[in-house]
Amino acid sequence: MQRTVAPSMLSADFGHLERDTRMIDRSAAEWVHIDVMDGVFVPNISFGFPVMKPIRKATSKLLDVHLMIVEPEKYVARFVEAGADLVTFHLEATKDPAGCIARIREAGVRVGISIKPATPVAALREWLPMVDLVLVMSVEPGFGGQSFIPGSLAKIRELRALADELGFATIIEVDGGISSANARDVFDAGAEVLVAGSAVFKAADPEAEIRRILEA
Ligand code: DX5
Ligand code: ZN
Repeated sequence: MQRTVAPSMLSADFGHLERDTRMIDRSAAEWVHIDVMDGVFVPNISFGFPVMKPIRKATSKLLDVHLMIVEPEKYVARFVEAGADLVTFHLEATKDPAGCIARIREAGVRVGISIKPATPVAALREWLPMVDLVLVMSVEPGFGGQSFIPGSLAKIRELRALADELGFATIIEVDGGISSANARDVFDAGAEVLVAGSAVFKAADPEAEIRRILEA
């Protein structure tokens, strides 16, 4: 299975967004993860459209936008205009997942759906035929720097088995508490894309930590 690392800009230095994005651009990471928080779906506020501009300008790598906002269907098209290549919304954040998926497709990019730690894999069954990716949260969304919830590994395995059973090549992405110390277990459970925020940006050599995660 292919391995991809998506460093999370939430842990970057916002005073040096261009520098930090260029670091990812020359690194072995293929995706750039962008966490958007509204202070309603999660108890924290991060950033929105204007902050995506300098990031988009500084890299041609895939911009992976993770929306932690209520009623995401209202805003997905604007995130695509701002440069998103893939838009992921939370199943728990909308009354209309089908409408949200349709809006993202109409905007011409790939679609992801995310679940919080307490949401069971079974809740995804009806949406798997419509999405390209599932983002499994391995911490409660809202903050970087938390510890990986060990029960997430069983969820990843269950999701991989469900997707295989239904015959979908769903990409599994995992987000929260990932570093080179646990990356191997997460890849082995069936994940293809690992998000890493603090592990990358707090490392003495961020590019080396990205390589260590990929080669874990
Ligand atoms: C948390 C965000 C994550 C966060 C991960 O709600 O979705 O993407 O940046 O940070 P670390 O890797 O530090 O757990
Ligand atoms: Zn995220």
